Amino acid sequence: MRIGVLTSGGDSPGMNAAIRAVVRSGLSYGDQVFGIFDGYKGLVEGKIQEFTRKDVSEILNRGGTILGTARLPEFAYPQVRELAVKQLKKNDIDAVICIGGDGTFAGALALSEMGVKCIGIPGTIDNDIASSDFTIGFSTALNTACDAIDKLRDTSSSHQRCSIIEVMGRHCPDLALYSGICCGAEYIITNSTGLDKEKLLSDLKKNRLQGRRHAIVVISENVTDVYQLAQDVEEYSGYECRATVLGYIQRGGTPTPEDRLLASRLGGYAVELLHKDIDGVTVGIHHNKLRHIPLKEALEMTSSTDKSLEELLTKIQ
Ligand code: F6P
Repeated sequence: MRIGVLTSGGDSPGMNAAIRAVVRSGLSYGDQVFGIFDGYKGLVEGKIQEFTRKDVSEILNRGGTILGTARLPEFAYPQVRELAVKQLKKNDIDAVICIGGDGTFAGALALSEMGVKCIGIPGTIDNDIASSDFTIGFSTALNTACDAIDKLRDTSSSHQRCSIIEVMGRHCPDLALYSGICCGAEYIITNSTGLDKEKLLSDLKKNRLQGRRHAIVVISENVTDVYQLAQDVEEYSGYECRATVLGYIQRGGTPTPEDRLLASRLGGYAVELLHKDIDGVTVGIHHNKLRHIPLKEALEMTSSTDKSLEELLTKIQ
């Protein structure tokens, strides 16, 4: 087989481990594996290169993606996808493994509906692909967020401040929820909890009056303007308050062993499925077992957030 592999959308630590697993498992079957650079954009432009075993040496532990990535909203247009199909034909590529988030899967589904064999591998720090319990990159981003929150706790306690920390996640609460639990945040605010500003301010005021030295508020991006919220907290609660947006730092860094393992398993599994003549699916992990489900179904699945974590929070916060 001649298999192409690409990474698309926001990068995530562990994508390189997945690329390596695809290339090496393909080679173990006697396949030829082609790296497609810069996501669907590079596919349309024909940025395709055959990979040897050595081309994926020394990348298992590296963040980012050696293939590069891009967002290409124009891929929604059939005429743009036609160009991609032409490039695949020109290079005699039989199947494409697409590593990324839901935008990447939408592209893979559209291509598979045009007759291209595609498999999706969930790679995003957001953990917002409901068909897999975890996505490649989430574990590393969670570690990064926890490290930052622990540090912010130190300085907040010294200065008796409230610290508002915005984490990524697009519209998925997981990064905020998991990091908030792991760091003992006093408040966790996500798109699913919503922000009750009045309650937050009066709770913080109560805490302050009780003499608590600091308060940690972890909040998902896209909920509110955290700098404005910090001003409101200062005004009403009695705490000095600082807002920190962790931002893109969460997307980089050395992948954790969990991400390397997940990426290696999913990469190997994707190639195995192609050899079983299965495509048009996404691979994932469910209860620690590998599974695959149709791309269309995966895209229709909603929230994968573990409800028991939200319940736990009501008891330990
Ligand atoms: O999908 C991962 C993610 O990091 C989101 O958490 C965030 O909202 C988005 O990407 C930012 O994307 P961009 O790199 O296009 O600014």
